[in-house]
Amino acid sequence: MKIFLVGATGRVGSEFIKLALAANHQITAFVRDPKKLSVNNPGLTFQTGDLKDIPSVRTAFFSGAWDAVVNVAGADPLKPSSLVTDTAKVLVPLAEEAKTPRYLAITGTAEMPKTLGGRISIAILMRSPVGHGARDHDGALLVVRASTLDWALIGCPWIKDEPSRGKFKTEKVFTGGMKTISPGDVALAIFREMENPSVHRDIIGVWY
Ligand SMILES: NC(=O)c1ccc[n+]([C@@H]2O[C@H](COP(=O)([O-])OP(=O)(O)OC[C@H]3O[C@@H](n4cnc5c(N)ncnc54)[C@H](OP(=O)(O)O)[C@@H]3O)[C@@H](O)[C@H]2O)c1
Repeated sequence: MKIFLVGATGRVGSEFIKLALAANHQITAFVRDPKKLSVNNPGLTFQTGDLKDIPSVRTAFFSGAWDAVVNVAGADPLKPSSLVTDTAKVLVPLAEEAKTPRYLAITGTAEMPKTLGGRISIAILMRSPVGHGARDHDGALLVVRASTLDWALIGCPWIKDEPSRGKFKTEKVFTGGMKTISPGDVALAIFREMENPSVHRDIIGVWY
């Protein structure tokens, strides 16, 4: 598949690149600084720019035709930011214009359907600094929901720096509590959803 990837230099993005290249997919990574990735593989090419520079995103996006857009860009979730929402506002219309068959991105457990326990956990989280990240993802969810795309969002709890396990739960409803998932396993969930779509215009939660 031909993939347009944003957030390639991040924790999840760099793990996604390993999985996608090993499966012989072709990635075009939209990055601010290609030197951040020490991957030398003919399956990986770069388009340089900044997500805040909309013309640079548009030029990069229309440098090819894509089977999937994978958006794993993010800002510091503990600080106010609209990066995730603004990125969706740029990428989603481009993918619609190009009729890109699949749009895959990350969201949080706050954006998932919840049990009472889940609602209590998220109410606490929204009062913490992590609420900044959740509000940014709330905005992105509105954008993808309003689109015509075949989208799937991977609903993540705390993405904790730990080794991939290769096994995790996939859930439609967040039941609360402190859950974690590693960057490598988030990448694996996106990769699986890209290769074998099982979720359409919906969120699938992943945690251990
Ligand atoms: N942390 C958590 O526990 C948690 C929980 C739920 C969901 N999430 C979400 O998961 C996603 C991935 O997280 P992560 O930890 O892999 O993120 P990360 O390591 O912080 O990586 C963020 C990526 O976004 C890129 N980026 C940021 N601003 C950009 C800009 N203006 N132009 C171009 N690229 C830009 C960064 O590029 P540079 O290398 O150039 O900075 C980097 O590649 C994020 O959307 C995050 O909100 C995180």
